[in-house]
Amino acid sequence: MFYDTETNAHGMAHDPFKAIVAPRPIGWIGTKGRDGIRNLSPYSFFNAVGDRPKMIMFSSSGRKDSLRNVEETGVFTASFVSRTLMDRMNESSAAVAYETDEFELAGLTPAPGHIVDAPFVGEAVAALECRVTKVLTLPDMDGNDTDSHAVFGQVVGIHIAEEVIRNGRFDLAAADPIMRLGYMDYAGMGPIFELKRPSQRT
Ligand SMILES: Cc1cc2nc3c(=O)[nH]c(=O)nc-3n(C[C@H](O)[C@H](O)[C@H](O)COP(=O)(O)O)c2cc1C
Repeated sequence: MFYDTETNAHGMAHDPFKAIVAPRPIGWIGTKGRDGIRNLSPYSFFNAVGDRPKMIMFSSSGRKDSLRNVEETGVFTASFVSRTLMDRMNESSAAVAYETDEFELAGLTPAPGHIVDAPFVGEAVAALECRVTKVLTLPDMDGNDTDSHAVFGQVVGIHIAEEVIRNGRFDLAAADPIMRLGYMDYAGMGPIFELKRPSQRT
């Protein structure tokens, strides 16, 4: 089948777009407002977008509290979502008032950043501290602003729990991430395998 995205006539109960661009990692974005109120929310429009220097991005569909906070303070954190934290991650996505601290709501420990003044999830096995480098309201193909706002951040500090460092590596199997699919679906990790680049073959 084929459908064009202008009519969006896919004929299915739900738009399959996000099920195709999947799985997506989940960035659990920790921020504080200028007033000091903490915020925590999951974003699956999230990824690493550069490594020299290390850059990550999350994108807000509409103007949400995390976006407001990064605009106010210029910093954020991204915590790693392990399967054990799945329910609390979901809890933290509730549409609640700006004044609500989702760390409290979800029963999580707000750990203070070492470098940036933004909280991360103390229970997470990894977290990135970031300084905002750009907030980009995404233009559409005609150059008009959309209501998607991409926040780019340079990673200035990285936390890793000792228990997931094995044989000198961040052991992803031990960290046990959950990933976002389409619909209301999530997935865990499948088996890990290694694939050498053509230039690395002996
Ligand atoms: C797994 C998951 C991924 C999500 N990804 C996004 C996303 O990429 N962009 C977005 O705008 N909202 C996303 N949401 C919804 C936000 O988490 C939700 O709107 C939240 O209330 C926003 O909080 P805030 O206003 O405190 O930033 C996601 C929710 C879940 C559960």
